[in-house]
Amino acid sequence: MKERIESLKLELENFRSEKAADIEAFRVEMLGKKGKITALFNDFRALDGELKRTLGKPLNELKTFAQQKVNELKDAAESNIELGPKQDLSRPANFQSLGSRHPVNLVKNEIVGIFKRIGFNVSEGPEIEDDWHNFSALNFPEEHPARDMQDTFFVAKDPDWALRTHTSSVQVRVMENEKPPIRTISPGRVFRNEAISARSHCFFHQIEGLYIDKGVSFSDLKQTLLFFAQEFFGPDTKIRLRPSYFPFTEPSAEMDVYWGLENERDYRMTKGTGWLEVLGCGMVDPNVLKNNGIDPEVYSGFAFGIGVERIALHRYQIPDIRMLFENDLRFLEQFKAAY
Ligand code: DAH
Repeated sequence: MKERIESLKLELENFRSEKAADIEAFRVEMLGKKGKITALFNDFRALDGELKRTLGKPLNELKTFAQQKVNELKDAAESNIELGPKQDLSRPANFQSLGSRHPVNLVKNEIVGIFKRIGFNVSEGPEIEDDWHNFSALNFPEEHPARDMQDTFFVAKDPDWALRTHTSSVQVRVMENEKPPIRTISPGRVFRNEAISARSHCFFHQIEGLYIDKGVSFSDLKQTLLFFAQEFFGPDTKIRLRPSYFPFTEPSAEMDVYWGLENERDYRMTKGTGWLEVLGCGMVDPNVLKNNGIDPEVYSGFAFGIGVERIALHRYQIPDIRMLFENDLRFLEQFKAAY
């Protein structure tokens, strides 16, 4: 009898549940008509006087303990408070898990912040664009390959409406609506009908820059981009401008920043050159100014377009662009510490 009391006590101590149905089943198992404790009381009656005197008290205590335990568990299950030595009762209730910023947004915000500090405002345009804003006003010739079905997602088979292929379309909208001086950056999502791979996706993000005023020269462009590169990549960053071609700028260039060529990773990232391609830029073509009602005899300007994903992949050493858009929390939560 003594051992049975001890072992039931242990069983009571170890029992844990938050489910009301399980707790009730446990109560029946212990204290019900055919319960284990009830059975002990039945056996107790048959004991002789001496044993009754020594076992009566522990048996009654066992029953009280069982009732208390069941009541406590039931209360806890009702109010959903977790009890027990393993839970920390000092924890705040209803813990809210914090989200994290997306790496593309982290990079975008930082770049926008840099240009805001030197007087650029932020402008936005629609993701569905007409041919004029995306191509024609930007001096794309009729037969330019970028207009081809292979590059552009057209909307409802209408050749006049497409998903914008670059944020340069926002330049046009700003020039239409504002008088120089214009100093603006336009972050946004763009779309291209390209095969998806580790390096390229059918949608991505760009930040367009446009500066138009009297007497703006190529050296202003260069100095502005150098400032950006040194703010973003570090004060000793070197840049170089390579001649290039875009229909909407003349002359046009691509800007690289010097990344270094010290280990295998640098080699891979810079294709063995040490230089990282960061953006396209140039002096706004006089035709583009004319197309948008700005007199190229009076005004000149520069423009640039930065690819956000390319920079984000480098900054966070992300091996595959697709990881940015899969919304896998195990990936996204790694950016909690970033600002
Ligand atoms: N729109 C170009 C692209 O999508 C990027 C670009 C290049 C924008 C030169 C510009 C620029 O404003 O001047 O590849």
